[in-house]
Amino acid sequence: MLKLAMALAVSAFATAVSSAAEAPIAISVDTGKPGAVINRHIFGQFAEHLGRGIYEGIWVGPDSTIPNTRGIRNDVVAALKAIKVPNVRWPGGCFADEYHWRNGIGPRDARPATLNPNWGGVIEPNTFGTHEFMDFAQQVGADAYLSINVGSGTPAESADWLEYLTTPQPSALGKERGANGHPEPYAVPMLGIGNESWGCGGSMTPEHYVGQLKISARYARNYNPAQKMMRIAVGPDGPSTAYTTAVMEAWKNKTWAWDIEGISLHSYTVGGWPPSYKATGFGEAEYARLLDETRRMESLVTTHGAVMDSFDPQKKIALVVDEWGAWLAPTPGSPEGFLEQQNSQRDALIAALNINIFARHADRVRGANIAQMVNVLQAMILTDKEKMLLTPTYHVFKMYLPFQDATALPVSFQAGEYRSGDIKLPRIDAIAARDAAGKVWFAIANLDPGRPAEVSLGTSGIAAREARGETLAAPKVDSVNTFAAPGTVVPKAVSVRATGGKVKLRLAPASVTVVAVQ
Ligand code: AHR
Repeated sequence: MLKLAMALAVSAFATAVSSAAEAPIAISVDTGKPGAVINRHIFGQFAEHLGRGIYEGIWVGPDSTIPNTRGIRNDVVAALKAIKVPNVRWPGGCFADEYHWRNGIGPRDARPATLNPNWGGVIEPNTFGTHEFMDFAQQVGADAYLSINVGSGTPAESADWLEYLTTPQPSALGKERGANGHPEPYAVPMLGIGNESWGCGGSMTPEHYVGQLKISARYARNYNPAQKMMRIAVGPDGPSTAYTTAVMEAWKNKTWAWDIEGISLHSYTVGGWPPSYKATGFGEAEYARLLDETRRMESLVTTHGAVMDSFDPQKKIALVVDEWGAWLAPTPGSPEGFLEQQNSQRDALIAALNINIFARHADRVRGANIAQMVNVLQAMILTDKEKMLLTPTYHVFKMYLPFQDATALPVSFQAGEYRSGDIKLPRIDAIAARDAAGKVWFAIANLDPGRPAEVSLGTSGIAAREARGETLAAPKVDSVNTFAAPGTVVPKAVSVRATGGKVKLRLAPASVTVVAVQ
């Protein structure tokens, strides 16, 4: 702790001193060997009926004094639009396998109060239901990613929900949707068939789940001809490949009667259950430990990707990491089961490391959803009644916008090493990609909280003139944005002229930098 505090305290001096002593780390990108497209859906969000994620975080109601559009808060929508959220996963999570969609349609004052046993046992007013969610997704400009109830629902219930949402025909369900205010069919581009069916979603063996999957994948139909629907099966929790193998084997031997397009993976940076790592006021050991754990996402994606390759060498099925992020000890005093936590510069690095891993595996990882979007776990946004703040993680998502649907480019570099106790980490982590306009972008994280890193960026075939972008650094690794000081951790502009066709940058300790080199 002392070492970290001292190192951070002197970082302004360390920048100048270390630069004289060290050769820059050369990061070169081969523009002649483009890789896969980094699907924008790896920047997806997750909004569960959990704590203040939906109620207050998104929904305040049309009569609220908080500015809103049809009950959905305007400040949150504007912030999410600015990061071009590609899709939002809803209504859960564990909540999804106990959600009955009919409770959330029709006049709001006639909707039943139900319970939310997973998350604090609170009353679920069902005020925010299907139409409110679809309105929210449309206001944000995001695709709807719905999870159907496989755990406690029936195949008929899910089939009816999909017909209600998507049919353009005047069936009874289509007419009911019209009567509830939306005559046009909705688009449901992504559908999760259950959630964590190995755990809160029904404790099913892989074989049992595969039986359920075949039924739901058959009957939960999309009737909207204007919109394809990607069906995503429940996949693994962490390293066990039992679900991956069972689902992929079933898919390989499938009949004409059912199909899927994706399989999910859930993996949190947690440091051990129950979550006990502090969100603020932590030392270097905790910082390094959680970054180390985050980097294991690479081996998870590789392991499950290899199983998938054995059944699907053409990579038709996407791996969708639809729950990831830091799960920390809850904010002291917050209600039990609400999973509220602050969000620090360390979390910004955790986000960058995960996104870099997804981008490195862009050929297979074609979707991901950080948990969760507002007021829950590693959130983009925190609210306190009418106040709203953007977290360091939000800023990472904003800085990475140029990587949405960009083409991955191979990067090579000697990462160096950062050590903390017995934990050894690469000193830097980097990815590169070319956007639709032809610009080459780098995203580089300096993991070392005690030393700035000098890097030199080179692109094959281009004599660089300059680099422009942004960098996210903080006074301390546990620096956070608060309602009193919302601008403590915010990106700063970077603009550097090249010398000899290369750009040299000095990356602050524990920072994330995204620049275009041209
Ligand atoms: O994101 C919180 C919970 O974590 C989700 O409801 C569940 O799917 C996972 O275990």
